Amino acid sequence: KKDLISIMDYSKEEYLRIMELAADFERNPNQRLLEGKVVASLFFEPSTRTRLSFETAINRLGGRIIGFSDSNSSSVTKGETLHDTIRMVSNYADLIVMRHPLEGSARYAAEVSSVPIINAGDGANQHPTQTLLDMYSIIKTQGRLDNINIFMVGDLKYGRTVHSLLMALSQFENPIFNFIAPEELQMPEEYKLYLREKGIRYFEHREFTDIISEADIVYMTRVQKERFSDPIEYEQVKNVYILRNSMLKNTKPNMRILHPLPRVNEIHTDVDKNEKAYYFDQALNGVFAREAIIAHTLNLK
Ligand code: CP
Repeated sequence: KKDLISIMDYSKEEYLRIMELAADFERNPNQRLLEGKVVASLFFEPSTRTRLSFETAINRLGGRIIGFSDSNSSSVTKGETLHDTIRMVSNYADLIVMRHPLEGSARYAAEVSSVPIINAGDGANQHPTQTLLDMYSIIKTQGRLDNINIFMVGDLKYGRTVHSLLMALSQFENPIFNFIAPEELQMPEEYKLYLREKGIRYFEHREFTDIISEADIVYMTRVQKERFSDPIEYEQVKNVYILRNSMLKNTKPNMRILHPLPRVNEIHTDVDKNEKAYYFDQALNGVFAREAIIAHTLNLK
């Protein structure tokens, strides 16, 4: 069975295959490849886009969905373990899409499950399906995945989307990473070590910098309130970076702003009308990328 737990579970060839399939589903989203199949959507942690775009993808592919969007309505509240939940649901469904607050939970579920698991986010660890839709957004707007200069801004410590995206872009030619984060929320050392070992350039900044003019992609992130054990620490960093229209004047014409969303206030709403704002299109790309991931996982295309 083909699980997708970490973005590194796919090869570079598979990333490119997903890009091709996503483009195919964008041209024709209603291909009834999942007819007769049941997909379980188990969200132990809140979600809007990931859950609804997966459910849209499953509906467009003609499949059926079971599951829960709130673990309080499941037997988890009675003390049922993740092991037992997955073991049982894998007897009901052909595929499980799962989001869980604990790092490593998706890998564990994959060990227990007899059907493929797609990780829809495990704590601060990985969010590989977000990365594939981010890559699809990059290739659509930049025409390439090689030679991308990307600024990652905000919560680089807890933001699982930047962790997965960093690893994926590192498989392509000559990426340049610029990190803008407060002292407390820097990119974890393990990811910087990974870049150093591969000889990939990265630069760290504390403030928005003039060299943002070199960016192809500015990838904004929300400060992940739910991962802070101390609310005072969250209050200190929550408003550190706010992207405003006035800051985009000297950026490349083709630069695009991505954000996995939800946004709190890190992108001022005055940016939304700017042609460089791409985050709502990016969220739509999630439907096509997830159709592609499901088709690839179940070998339907
Ligand atoms: N981007 C993302 O994962 O959004 P949700 O938390 O709403 O699913």
